[in-house]
Amino acid sequence: MTKIYIMIEKLAENLANLKKEFVSVYDGNSQVQEVIPVAKSELFPISPKDLELLHQFATENPIYYNSYEKTIGCTPCIVYEGDINKYWLNSIQHGSSHAPFSPTWIMSAYIGSLLAKELGYEELIDIGSGDGRIAFCGKILGMKSYSIEIDGMLVDLQKSLCSLQDFNARCSDAGTFDYDSLNLKRPVFFIGGLAQMGGVSLASGVLEKINLISGLQNNAGWVFAGTFSQKYAADPKNEAGWGTLIEKNSLKTVQIISLPTAWTFHESDDTPYIFTQSN
Ligand SMILES: C[S@@+](CC[C@H](N)C(=O)[O-])C[C@H]1O[C@@H](n2cnc3c(N)ncnc32)[C@H](O)[C@@H]1O
Repeated sequence: MTKIYIMIEKLAENLANLKKEFVSVYDGNSQVQEVIPVAKSELFPISPKDLELLHQFATENPIYYNSYEKTIGCTPCIVYEGDINKYWLNSIQHGSSHAPFSPTWIMSAYIGSLLAKELGYEELIDIGSGDGRIAFCGKILGMKSYSIEIDGMLVDLQKSLCSLQDFNARCSDAGTFDYDSLNLKRPVFFIGGLAQMGGVSLASGVLEKINLISGLQNNAGWVFAGTFSQKYAADPKNEAGWGTLIEKNSLKTVQIISLPTAWTFHESDDTPYIFTQSN
């Protein structure tokens, strides 16, 4: 494994440890909460310009209603507190919705996008993008980014954040979107939704469309958000719920990194992000 992949794995591990410390000291009662380090450090060697943009994304995002500075472990951070209720409710009203809205952490979106970029992908397509944080991070890292979200209220929110960095917010059902129009060369698709919670249907619809575009099948990467939670029926082929889909589509897993998300805040396991490509 080269130095850069080791650095990204370490970054993911440091974020998971930061989350653990944060959970143990957090005494607020907001519905969602997350942290972003204030400055570049040994544990978080992130470009100050990128960090500044991550803070702007949180500060200008209407999901968050409060923020304050707090040192967690030895890392000075800003804590962002928010409420996603109205967006969650709106997102489940669509007939072809395959997953209700809940966000990954902004820092997780950044680390996942960083790995995608280092794996050589040129375009990042955030499928079921919520507030667009993964597409936003892909854009600040220099990839062409597209954000596909079915819910109009979330897309309006995304458009307001596109003034920071234009990550191409598109309001569409990902299963019917015209991917040919994007003229993709070496894309990576982040699928927003756990396998057992509609993610498989969401991913299958997009995989079917991409496989029909000449030359794309072998060049595309797929990133799936998994879970090891016993609450959900396990996939007999494993891979945190994605094994059957991975096998059926002749994909292979190239790397897995575990990152904090809003839905795992109270759980000891973070969310495994499974990076796959054509076998
Ligand atoms: C669990 S959230 C993930 C949000 C984001 N990817 C993240 O990780 O922060 C899933 C999102 O997928 C959207 N969604 C569900 N079905 C969809 C579909 N068929 N087409 C586009 N978006 C969809 C929902 O509205 C919701 O915002």
